[in-house]
Amino acid sequence: MQILGIETSCDETACAVVEDGRSVRSNVIASQDALHVEYGGVVPEIASRAHVERMLPVVRRALIDAGRALDDIDAIAVGNRPGLVGSLLVGVSCAKALAWSLGKPLVGVDHVAAHLYAGCLERDVPSMPALGLVVSGGHSSLYRCASLTTMTRIGSTIDDAVGEAYDKAATILGLEYPGGPRLDALAQTGDATAHDLPISRLDAESLDFSFSGLKTAMLYKVRGAPERDPVTNEVGFPRDHTDLSDTECANLAASFQRAAIGAVTLKINRALDGAARDCRTLLVGGGVSANSFLRSELQRIAEERNLDLRLPKMRFCLDNAAMIAGYAFHQWNTRGADDLSLRAVPTTAC
Ligand code: KG4
Ligand code: ZN
Repeated sequence: MQILGIETSCDETACAVVEDGRSVRSNVIASQDALHVEYGGVVPEIASRAHVERMLPVVRRALIDAGRALDDIDAIAVGNRPGLVGSLLVGVSCAKALAWSLGKPLVGVDHVAAHLYAGCLERDVPSMPALGLVVSGGHSSLYRCASLTTMTRIGSTIDDAVGEAYDKAATILGLEYPGGPRLDALAQTGDATAHDLPISRLDAESLDFSFSGLKTAMLYKVRGAPERDPVTNEVGFPRDHTDLSDTECANLAASFQRAAIGAVTLKINRALDGAARDCRTLLVGGGVSANSFLRSELQRIAEERNLDLRLPKMRFCLDNAAMIAGYAFHQWNTRGADDLSLRAVPTTAC
């Protein structure tokens, strides 16, 4: 079963061909980073226009790389939620046009569920139930997954997502967009014990996340406490990252990383001792699953607890269409196809 997947939820235009939910025949991603860098974040209008320009060349490339023609494709899958609605619309329109003109089934996939599946690509299907962790620019959530397609959210962020906190901390340190991977690289050169930044715990039983306190602590460490100017009466910071040495910046990055990832592993351990006590599999996905420290911490936890850890390969961590096409195979088998009334929806159903 060959599924062509399309992903355009944010600023990556992606298309992939995946066989039987498992074998990735092609995985094409056109990044828009260069278009957004000067704004320090994704500009939705620029993103959707760039998707329009790139969509068809990316689909053609995915078919060529896979050595397949459109006639060889059995179904068209598309990430139809959550995301920027203008961006989603481009992928959904393209998928509908392909499905309709080829007379093939259309499968609309939730991007968050697909991220959780990314670590199962090119591997066998894991045993269920599983604990699922999604850590991306838009989500920090824990799920108890009874099956690959039945998941119950047991924790989520009450403010910023972890990737968003990484991107904001990176901006505070003067790193360019996209800041998460840059902060990760800088952290590897610093001393993580140099600063005690807060690890958010919330209530003793809580599986929710909070990263806004950590972000503010980082802001004050770098820029100092805000002061009121006696003449203009305006509130400002006494310094910024340009006043810090390279070593100080690296130590702050490493200390931030320790606190941010510490909060994630704390909640994973809580879940594994509570709501997910019966889970022997740990599914992980989303852009922050590319983080070096998170990956090594998850490997340690999996070894200690004898879990089957499904860390995505690096090429499947960030937004990609292989996870969409792979997950669609299971969704189609369990729930069937969608029809042409499929809509682009900004929020997740998971
Ligand atoms: O999954 P993704 O590509 O898009 C969303 O669905 O949000 O995740 C993007 C996020 C960004 O916030 C980016 O900074 C973060 O993932 N990210 C990282 C790393 N690589 C990407 N954060 C920390 N360390 C990394 N190595
Ligand atoms: Zn994503």
